[in-house]
Amino acid sequence: MADTILMCAPSYFDVKYKINPWMDTESECDREKAHQQWLELKRILVQAGAEIKLIEQKPDVPDMVFTANAALMYKNKAIISNFKYKERKPEENYFSGWFEENGYDVIRLPDNMAFEGAGDALFLNEKIFAGYVPRTDIASHTYISEILGLPVISLELATNNFYHIDTCFCPLSGGYLIYYPAAFDKYANQVIEANVEKEKRIVVTEEEASCFSCNAVNVGKTVVTNHTTGRFTKLLAEKGFRHVQTDLSEFIKSGGSAKCLTLKI
Ligand code: ARG
Repeated sequence: MADTILMCAPSYFDVKYKINPWMDTESECDREKAHQQWLELKRILVQAGAEIKLIEQKPDVPDMVFTANAALMYKNKAIISNFKYKERKPEENYFSGWFEENGYDVIRLPDNMAFEGAGDALFLNEKIFAGYVPRTDIASHTYISEILGLPVISLELATNNFYHIDTCFCPLSGGYLIYYPAAFDKYANQVIEANVEKEKRIVVTEEEASCFSCNAVNVGKTVVTNHTTGRFTKLLAEKGFRHVQTDLSEFIKSGGSAKCLTLKI
């Protein structure tokens, strides 16, 4: 079955506040350019075989374009995010409204339990790998595990720059994993190594991680990222993946890239 992806056109995208180290409120954000970059990403995903659904951005939430943070999806369930920062909190009701209207089983976590959806929880080998500390409380992991009946493996995010797990960890089809080991502490690295065999691990360099190579969207055998190195393309090709690169510079000003702009539903 084709992947269905939820996206949100950047009608009101901007960098108006700073809630991660990439965000610089001084830098000018070119909304027209952002729109072109977003359209091109959408075109690539459609070409790769995905079906795209759209939610309209609301004027008060410049980060709503990052639909990865809307919810964690599993079958017909949408576990809605509880955003850590007040600036993104209004998105919770906008997204839950969309899921309700579209027939999903909407689940809310207890208030004050920070959890940022598919930005911090990813499926690999029938398990959920979930990040914590910067944006998500570890207490939410137990909740999610109980609600979905799946094991959740908690991985501490050890740096400021890689503040959501989807900025440094990307499961691909066939049990492959792109990741940046330095974004995790020693224990999390041991856990990753114990869960993913060596041949399936695609380790990126600091340079690659810093241009958001781990923030990839995988549709079939296609992997889409922001511009990165030829080495990365080669690594993917060795594992049988076709790599497509596209400029997402406007979104990187907000600390997001390809994967953050999508949510598989
Ligand atoms: N400016 C947004 C924030 O800090 C970027 C979100 C990126 N999303 C992601 N899934 N990594 O919340």
